[in-house]
Formats: sequence, C-alpha cells, structure tokens
Amino acid sequence: MEIVTARLRLDALRDEDADALFAYRADPAVARFQGWKPASVVDARRFIETQDGLAPDTPDTWWQRAIRLRDSGTLIGDLGLHFMDDKAVEVGISLAPAHQRRGYAREALEVMLDFVFGGLRKQRVKAFVDPRNFMCMRLLEGLGMRRRAPQNGDVMFELPAAEWLAAPDQGGDR
Ligand SMILES: CC(C)(COP(=O)(O)OP(=O)(O)OC[C@H]1O[C@@H](n2cnc3c(N)ncnc32)[C@H](O)[C@@H]1OP(=O)(O)O)[C@@H](O)C(=O)NCCC(=O)NCCS
Repeated sequence: MEIVTARLRLDALRDEDADALFAYRADPAVARFQGWKPASVVDARRFIETQDGLAPDTPDTWWQRAIRLRDSGTLIGDLGLHFMDDKAVEVGISLAPAHQRRGYAREALEVMLDFVFGGLRKQRVKAFVDPRNFMCMRLLEGLGMRRRAPQNGDVMFELPAAEWLAAPDQGGDR
C-alpha cells in the first residue's frame, strides 16, 4: 500500500533502506526518547524484515511505513501504527534531523489519521510520549491530540475518531 501526499510518499520499508534507517534511528537526537534504537545496520535490516508480508490492522503488531520525499524517493523517516485492539491505534514517528522542521511529520501523520479513522474505522488514536519530548508534544497537539493522564511516566495523547472526522478541513490547518 502506497499513500502519496503533496510532498511525500508513504510505503513499505525495503531491504535497501537499512543504511539510511540505521543512520537516523541511531542518531542520538532521534533515539533519545525512543523505545528502540538499532545497534547496527544488521539490526535495522532485521527491523525491516519483521514487516515482510505484514498487513495493516493485524492485532498487537506495529505496522511501519517509510516516509519518503515524493519526487526523489529519499527515505527521510518512518511512521508506525500499533494496532492495540480492534478500536485503538498507537502512533509513533521519527524523522531524520536534516528533514525536521519542515512540516513533513505533520503531513505524514495527517494522511495516516485519515487512513486510520476513515479507512480502518478505528475509534481512537493514542501516543505515549516522554515528557521531555517537546517537539513530539507540539506536533501531536498541533494535530488536535489531547493530553490525558500520564501512564508509566509517559504523557498519553489521545484523539477520538469523531473529532478528526468532524473537523471541517481534514488535513488542513488545525
Ligand atoms: C517528533 C518529530 C517527528 C517532529 O518533527 P518536526 O520536524 O518538528 O515536525 P514537522 O515535520 O511537523 O515540522 C513542524 C515544524 O516545521 C515548520 N514548517 C516549516 N515548513 C512547513 C510547512 N511547509 N508546513 C508545515 N510546517 C512547516 C512548522 O512551522 C513547525 O515548526 P514550529 O513547531 O516551530 O512551528 C521529530 O522531532 C523527531 O523525529 N523526533 C525524534 C523521534 C521521536 O522522538 N519521536 C517520537 C514521536 S511521538
């Protein structure tokens, strides 16, 4: 499955992405607040292999998408959907530092929220964020996600389907 936006292409991670994925995921600026950091390119390749043949909406799995520049195909990050149960999806996202601060994370998440709520008909999206991760919290709040009670030291963010679907301009300025 491939989703194209104004500037991005979201599709499957491929074996040849391992070097680039390792480079940004192992960067301390990206890994600092993340639960997983690849120890080597081999580790990054294994991570990509876990996605082989995995369909979206498989219970209790993370479905990872590559975030690429639409025109060049350059891998600039990845986005994961964790299918927690039949109603709730957790999201996670990482961008290579050189491609941050340009609105790419927001653009990728907007189209994924459309897919999760409009396509898969899920009822809520959640994110669990280290309370020191200001860039991530800013991103999620900008998308209309709300802070809920902390869980295991993380700030929980939540967005109900009704709020996303009722917004007059999905994917527009929020
Ligand atoms: C979390 C993370 C993905 C956010 O990335 P980001 O680059 O800040 O987010 P965006 O791509 O949406 O960029 C937003 C910024 O780009 C600016 N921007 C520039 N051009 C833009 C454009 N054309 N459209 C929209 N925004 C644009 C926005 O104004 C905004 O800056 P501001 O917050 O100062 O207003 C990134 O910090 C990251 O990868 N962190 C490490 C991994 C991590 O901790 N992930 C956990 C996430 S839950």
